[in-house]
Amino acid sequence: MRRMRATEGLRRLVRETRLAPEQLVLPLFVCPGEGVRREISSMPGNAQLSIDELVKECAEAKSLGLGGVILFGIPEHKDEQASGAYDDQGIVQRALRALKREVPGLVLITDVCNCEYTSHGHCGLVEGDDVVNDPSLEWLAKAAVSHAKAGADIVAPSDMMDGRVAAIRAALDRDGYTNTPILSYAAKFASCFYGPFREAAESTPQFGDRRSYQMDAPNAREAMREMELDLEEGADMLMVKPAMPYLDLLAKARERFDVPLAAYQVSGEFSMIHAAAQRGWIDLDRAMMESLISIRRAGADFVLTYFAKAAARAL
Ligand code: PBG
Repeated sequence: MRRMRATEGLRRLVRETRLAPEQLVLPLFVCPGEGVRREISSMPGNAQLSIDELVKECAEAKSLGLGGVILFGIPEHKDEQASGAYDDQGIVQRALRALKREVPGLVLITDVCNCEYTSHGHCGLVEGDDVVNDPSLEWLAKAAVSHAKAGADIVAPSDMMDGRVAAIRAALDRDGYTNTPILSYAAKFASCFYGPFREAAESTPQFGDRRSYQMDAPNAREAMREMELDLEEGADMLMVKPAMPYLDLLAKARERFDVPLAAYQVSGEFSMIHAAAQRGWIDLDRAMMESLISIRRAGADFVLTYFAKAAARAL
């Protein structure tokens, strides 16, 4: 077995999995204001960006050849109805219009969810202590349509309400956005690895947690059901999230489904690698590349990752 490992040339020749910049999608946080670049302490190199700064960041993403960016909004006001999520003048909608104009050709994905826009930080309408399903679908559908109208190339629902893909597909089609694809966060788990993101997006739930709608970590068969349902409802692409603790599900999904498959290397996965590297316990660049290639090897076609720019540069 060692003969083909002897030199870098030989290893390169027989490498089974490859990584390219177009397989990387960079998550970005857009906030109100001008000239704002507010560093996120738990996510080195990431910041909340005002639209003008976001445009610069996206121009760089494009010149590095990234597959696209995914936008998260930090609105001016939050309320019980998540009204900032589906406002045509909302932060993500305004960012989309600017990016379409200033950075043409870059693939713009939007995260469709309510948690950044609700005063309580949950992903849907709250009644009592409950996040109620069907009324939340209406907000999600409205948000997806307003994103498509503002220029989103792909909408990506991450809320984990039942039936959201069907509701979004129907609303997009009704309003003439029949060509806007849906990337469904189909198997999204209630994970502690979202911790740093909640600082970044200011979306920590004010009470309770997300376990009544996000998936329970031990469940693999249920994840396949979630994916099957989302495909039936009209999803064009499926996502597994987080990535590294759920590589088995990526491999299973790869065998089962022929649609494009994405994985989200989430904030906690990114921050852990940085934290260990800061202490000199692991090598940052090697950990970055090894984690990304493992996600590709498991079966992901593309990876949403805060390492997107650094990895593209290294490639
Ligand atoms: C919104 C959303 C979250 C993430 C992506 N979309 C947070 C959550 O569900 O709590 C997490 C991304 C990350 O940790 O990098 N619902």
